[in-house]
Amino acid sequence: MMATELDDAGFLALTEKIARERSFGCSSYKEKCLRRRIAVRMRARGVHRFSDYAALLDRDAVEYERLIDALTINVTKLFRNWSTFEALSRQVVPILWEGAARPIRGWSAGCSSGEEPYSLGILFHQHAAGRGEVADGSRVQILASDIDRASLDAARRGQFAEAAFADTPDALRRRYFSVRPPFEVVPEIRPLITFERRDLIVDSPPSGLHLIVCRNVLIYFDRQTQEHLFQRFHDALVPGGFLVLGKVETLLGPTRSLFTAVDPRERIFRRR
Ligand SMILES: C[S@@+](CC[C@H](N)C(=O)[O-])C[C@H]1O[C@@H](n2cnc3c(N)ncnc32)[C@H](O)[C@@H]1O
Repeated sequence: MMATELDDAGFLALTEKIARERSFGCSSYKEKCLRRRIAVRMRARGVHRFSDYAALLDRDAVEYERLIDALTINVTKLFRNWSTFEALSRQVVPILWEGAARPIRGWSAGCSSGEEPYSLGILFHQHAAGRGEVADGSRVQILASDIDRASLDAARRGQFAEAAFADTPDALRRRYFSVRPPFEVVPEIRPLITFERRDLIVDSPPSGLHLIVCRNVLIYFDRQTQEHLFQRFHDALVPGGFLVLGKVETLLGPTRSLFTAVDPRERIFRRR
């Protein structure tokens, strides 16, 4: 067994330090997951004790950034899990577009480097175009938020590497992104999205939302935090508003009764 697995006091001191100095509230995350990710960074730097690693963070700002990167897990893609976006384009976008809401208010919570909110914006834009209408900022407003400032800076640039397109149908790629690198989203989509730093655990959510997409974020939180956030999402949505989770996430405990399942496979729910 590694020294890092035994030293509970050292682990606690390190996570409290990170919470204090980087506003990353470690106590809401699954401990096993935190330990694993911190251990990866410690191994990479050849450090065995939490206290030594804390001292290293004090003198090495680059390592601190690497650690935050490792803890926030920013992996994402445009149209990640295409079947979910397909389901959204059939079962959610038309209902919202043809409904009374002006503008439709969406929230991509834990948006990482922006792939998810741009994909959502494109779905609305495409639906509008199919009806000979225009999706602009007066019709659709998507708030895209994340705890990680570096990811948000990347998101605002709206430029993507080839790998980000692995799940993107060719026709959408051709229509909505520049042909040459850096593959940049077309200008029509930008006014639909606003980026903002928000910590899901600390900051209260926006209100009056019609759609919340929070995928592959809650999985890192402990059960109690997840249930708390489901309640918050419920309160943030208008009645009949939609909630979309990641493919391996689902509603827990009493919060299940707050929503009906629209498409259980694609983790699409609707506020009762
Ligand atoms: C794996 S990415 C998910 C990106 C996108 N939603 C997707 O499914 O492709 C997880 C994101 O959650 C963000 N995150 C982690 N803890 C957070 C918190 N407390 N508040 C807001 N965002 C958080 C991370 O910074 C990271 O960008």
